[in-house]
Amino acid sequence: MSNQQAIAILDSGVGGLTVAKEVMRQLPQEKIIYFGDTDRAPYGPRPASEVVLFTTQIVDYLLQFQPKMIVIACNTATAVALETIRARVNVPVLGVITPGARAAIKATRNGEIGVIGTDGTIRSGAYETALRRISPGIRVISKACPTFVPLVEKGLFRSSEARDTVCDTLNGLKDETIDTLILGCTHYPFLADLIQECMGPGVTLISSADQTARDISTLLYHNGQLASSRELLMHRFFCSGDANTFHAIVQEWLNEEICVTPVVWQVPRFV
Ligand code: DGL
Repeated sequence: MSNQQAIAILDSGVGGLTVAKEVMRQLPQEKIIYFGDTDRAPYGPRPASEVVLFTTQIVDYLLQFQPKMIVIACNTATAVALETIRARVNVPVLGVITPGARAAIKATRNGEIGVIGTDGTIRSGAYETALRRISPGIRVISKACPTFVPLVEKGLFRSSEARDTVCDTLNGLKDETIDTLILGCTHYPFLADLIQECMGPGVTLISSADQTARDISTLLYHNGQLASSRELLMHRFFCSGDANTFHAIVQEWLNEEICVTPVVWQVPRFV
């Protein structure tokens, strides 16, 4: 396998762009193949078995590009499908939950960490498990925020509707004594300014994107697989739903000069 092979990144929709953006910043020579399952987002309310099936379908699709690594840039899918995908493919597979947990443990001073995520992620308890594996005495307060993802998928992450929704949803969490809050859904960094405004300056927000990109970098370095040139660097972005909305969000979130070509792929309808 050539070092110039792409890193495949997937999510239920545009959330994984927060990880892709960090990978582009930290590893500018790496080629990215991105898949957002926008037609079937959100994954959060779906049963675990369905999320495993959808993730498997996307990974099988992405394998045709012979990626050197697969990144499940979706907490909901990482929580329930990471081990299934690892057993299925013969390239390294990274999720976003352990990187997020490690970054939070590094940031907290008082040992009290909040986690916000989708229903599926919070129900799985994956963050509590990951945090306590590293630091058993940590206090974890979790909250599902199911209204956030649909706002981001519609491109409304800077709207007054988003501000009201974020404030209403996080109201109770503001009274907790947490000093660190994990954005346990890759869509939430789109709302980071509003979340920070609501939680106040005393709470450090943790997005998995930064630590995940570092983990990708470390792994590629140790495997001797870092891309060695930007020659023919052409990222590819796929989505399963409306390409116009997806394209607009990709253009807004990533740098203008990066060439992105969303391609609509008709996902087989298993729902
Ligand atoms: N971005 C995803 C996550 O990190 C999925 C959100 C959803 O589709 O509900 O969990």
